[in-house]
Amino acid sequence: MNAAIFDETIWITGASTGIGRALAVKLATQGNKVLISARSEQGLQTLAAEHSNTIPIVFDVTDTSALNGVTEQLQSHTDHLDRVVINAGNCEYFDIDQPDWSMMPRIMDVNFNGAMNTLAIAMPFLKHRPAGDFQSKHPHIIAVASLATVLPFNQAEAYGASKAALQYFFDALRLDLIKQSIDVTVINPGFVKTPLTDKNHFPMPFLMDADVAADRMIKAIQKRPRQYDFPFRLKSLMRLLSWFPGLWEKMMSRQS
Ligand SMILES: NC(=O)c1ccc[n+]([C@@H]2O[C@H](COP(=O)([O-])OP(=O)(O)OC[C@H]3O[C@@H](n4cnc5c(N)ncnc54)[C@H](OP(=O)(O)O)[C@@H]3O)[C@@H](O)[C@H]2O)c1
Repeated sequence: MNAAIFDETIWITGASTGIGRALAVKLATQGNKVLISARSEQGLQTLAAEHSNTIPIVFDVTDTSALNGVTEQLQSHTDHLDRVVINAGNCEYFDIDQPDWSMMPRIMDVNFNGAMNTLAIAMPFLKHRPAGDFQSKHPHIIAVASLATVLPFNQAEAYGASKAALQYFFDALRLDLIKQSIDVTVINPGFVKTPLTDKNHFPMPFLMDADVAADRMIKAIQKRPRQYDFPFRLKSLMRLLSWFPGLWEKMMSRQS
């Protein structure tokens, strides 16, 4: 049986497509109130039309002028969040022969600064609720980073650095939130078939459907681990290869 989370209020960024959308659909179907954010109003409205438990809140995570407005919108729908899933992200590949250095701050802005903007809004909503019969009610922050942080991928300088920054930030934040009993989980997916990876022109071992990824993520989110890396086979292979950097460089250089 698939894992289920129910009767919670959860905010997911990057919910218009891919992993975030699949998570939102599953969590709404399981009986949660799911606040869904992305830039695309149409994408969010389509999802909301199909799933009555979802509430669209348009939010460009890089737009610092939007933070107060997004807070007000959240307030109009809820006085608390049980969980926030910081998932919005983008990837661009660096070309060392024709370098676009502006890509570095651009990707950091979405993947890292966007996560900070989301967190700044979410924190005051992450409140404790009396424990129910079935679930712990500690608030829970979930950040979606990437298995790309285990080993360097060529042309992924901007993307990998932004995700490594997320990993460090949320590992440190976890320590600072112990006293407040707020849990922090970093999820590192491998390759998931989404509009983001549809642009890739290289082999993606153990590529999985967004639906399957969402099921695994919900199962992990329920257990609140510090970190969840998946799929197991890719994670294990990459961790093993990280002991052999010369071999990894040879493998990567064949792809460039
Ligand atoms: N797919 C994979 O293999 C994989 C692997 C590891 C990690 N991840 C991570 O998983 C997360 C979801 O990726 P995905 O594969 O599902 O990609 P996706 O289908 O392209 O989804 C990305 C989501 O982020 C939103 N987004 C992008 N820029 C935004 C911005 N400035 N403000 C607000 N929302 C923004 C997009 O919506 P709008 O365009 O409407 O704003 C979309 O909903 C990302 O953080 C990605 O890095 C993915």
